[in-house]
Amino acid sequence: MVGLRLPVPVPLILCLVGLVMGTYLEPDQTLSIPEGWIHVGHVTPTDDVILTFALKQQHIRELEQLVGRVSDPDSSQYGQFLSLEELSALVQPSSETLGTVRMWLEKYGIQECETIQTRDFLMCRTQARIAQQLLPGCQFHRYMKDGQTVVRSTSPYKIPDELSLHIDFVGGLHRFPTQRQVLSHKRDTQGQARAEFHLGVTPSILRQRYNLSASDIGSQPNNSQACAQFLEQYFLPADLSEFMQLFGRGFQHHSEVDQVVGQQGGGRAGLEASLDVEYIMSTGANISTWVFSNPGRHESQEPFLQWMILLSNMSSVPWVHTISYGDDEDSLSVAFMQRINVEFMKAASRGLTILFASGDDGAGCRHVAEGKNTFRPSFPASSPYVTTVGGTSFKNPFQVTREVTDYISGGGFSNVFSMPDYQASAVSQYLKNAPKLPPSTYYNGSGRAYPDVAALSDNYWVVTNRVPIPWVSGTSASTPVFGGILSLINDRRLQKGLSPLGFLNPALYRLQVNGSQALYDVTEGCHLSCIDDLVLGQGFCASPSWDPVTGWGTPNFPELLRALLF
Ligand SMILES: *[C@@H]1O[C@H](CO)[C@@H](O)[C@H](O)[C@H]1NC(C)=O
Ligand SMILES: *[C@@H]1O[C@H](CO)[C@@H](O)[C@H](O)[C@H]1NC(C)=O
Ligand SMILES: *[C@@H]1O[C@H](CO)[C@@H](O)[C@H](O)[C@H]1NC(C)=O
Ligand SMILES: *[C@@H]1O[C@H](CO)[C@@H](O)[C@H](O)[C@H]1NC(C)=O
Ligand SMILES: *[C@@H]1O[C@H](CO)[C@@H](O)[C@H](O)[C@H]1NC(C)=O
Ligand SMILES: *[C@@H]1O[C@H](CO)[C@@H](O)[C@H](O)[C@H]1NC(C)=O
Repeated sequence: MVGLRLPVPVPLILCLVGLVMGTYLEPDQTLSIPEGWIHVGHVTPTDDVILTFALKQQHIRELEQLVGRVSDPDSSQYGQFLSLEELSALVQPSSETLGTVRMWLEKYGIQECETIQTRDFLMCRTQARIAQQLLPGCQFHRYMKDGQTVVRSTSPYKIPDELSLHIDFVGGLHRFPTQRQVLSHKRDTQGQARAEFHLGVTPSILRQRYNLSASDIGSQPNNSQACAQFLEQYFLPADLSEFMQLFGRGFQHHSEVDQVVGQQGGGRAGLEASLDVEYIMSTGANISTWVFSNPGRHESQEPFLQWMILLSNMSSVPWVHTISYGDDEDSLSVAFMQRINVEFMKAASRGLTILFASGDDGAGCRHVAEGKNTFRPSFPASSPYVTTVGGTSFKNPFQVTREVTDYISGGGFSNVFSMPDYQASAVSQYLKNAPKLPPSTYYNGSGRAYPDVAALSDNYWVVTNRVPIPWVSGTSASTPVFGGILSLINDRRLQKGLSPLGFLNPALYRLQVNGSQALYDVTEGCHLSCIDDLVLGQGFCASPSWDPVTGWGTPNFPELLRALLF
């Protein structure tokens, strides 16, 4: 919208024509309340809220090009990562942006703000009534789920037109906390209760399947890995040590987390948190491990966003991060996703490897109407700057044998991000050769395709609240397993004086071009999608080489290590 130029101070205009003036920064953001959240009531006008301003960064194109070079094994700049200070110098907002935003906030008396090293986010505390004046349209309410309360607005906000040049979006208004959640139940596929016969996935089964010998453990004190939790999810140190006592035989490992960033609540452990920590430390054995726990404790903050912001304020963070957060692409604003994508580029420029679970709904389904349904991609799984991990199960439930598609394994094509160069030839091969593709109206074959890789996601043992639990499943199991394996590769690279892997995908897709054995190709099985007359619940199917169900496949450690020690 073009701003009216009236010779009146801005706040007065807002009072007079508040409904007309201003720009919606996130007009496409879903405003509905996700399932399970209950409206508790209006927020008292004097209650504190924290608004998170994503300030426009500079030199994003240069950042993108730099990430391309430092992640490309064929470039002379491969592995020459930036320090946080160097990254800040590149992307921090212009002084015009910083000044304009500060003046706008000061006009409303908002002064209690905090920033970070890269200066591209500003978190300001103010009263709800002032926030509602600052961002016309928003209305704060309190919602509750599983004992957690959040403050959110279910109506859209505007900012003055001239500020829209300086702000990407305002966080802390709309998005509710979400996370992929693991399940523990016996799954019945193809009519047989497979789980009944299988002894279940444990660290020794994984280490056997992925060819990790007893000596394949970490040895470098400067290596580290992390997982992040965004719901009220905690792990109990006692669970981890019991898990390692029960299942940690045959390989050296740590039984304690080295650093918890954020607060660990009291009370019971979460299955998800227990799973992540127990398995990243089983494949990434003897490697220093951190847990990012519930950053964004204030009820008006977005925990996932706060975690991303925190990374840009810590000059020293682990090299590998595994995360199970995910949301439907169509429920998030493009402004939010594009900015988060830049945050992933920032991480890549520093040499961080970020892995996301691909999701547990196969291709997903956006129910519109018979004949109009489409698949439903998930974000950040669909970001071109992360490595996305799908899921498999054993072909023969009695043996450690080859893997087939786990039918829940998330995968597909982004509707927001276009296909990155590194995967173009692999994906076009798939689209050309796949024996049975779903109708093309269900997906956008020119979008970023995922997952990139996979690992077992079915039938895990997890110790939680001191009890060993079987049948735990989901791509939030495969993600820490793959993350730990990449940490081992980082370890060998550090030992040789090489850089850490950083953003893996360009190297991953490149090494596969010559038919490497670094990943076990998964070629059997299809994943879930819309249950309608056209696709009958079936999404994409695995096939030789890359596919949008299991990516390139699952790790064969000795070969993957050999391939990635350049
Ligand atoms: C960022 O780190 C600095 C110190 O390194 C700290 O003073 C500041 O509060 C941090 N900002 C946030 C938002 O946590
Ligand atoms: C991986 O392990 C399998 C089964 O033990 C074995 O057949 C295969 O040769 C191993 N591959 C490599 C590359 O070590
Ligand atoms: C475990 O890692 C540490 C460094 O963090 C190293 O000193 C130690 O030798 C490793 N343990 C084994 C058995 O290799
Ligand atoms: C498909 O995706 C591309 C890039 O991601 C986008 O430019 C195009 O508009 C999309 N097409 C449809 C029909 O959504
Ligand atoms: C990690 O330590 C090794 C020596 O053990 C050293 O060669 C390497 O440069 C260090 N890497 C980083 C990123 O600090
Ligand atoms: C693939 O093989 C060709 C020919 O042997 C070689 O020149 C090239 O470097 C290889 N590429 C990779 C990524 O290993």
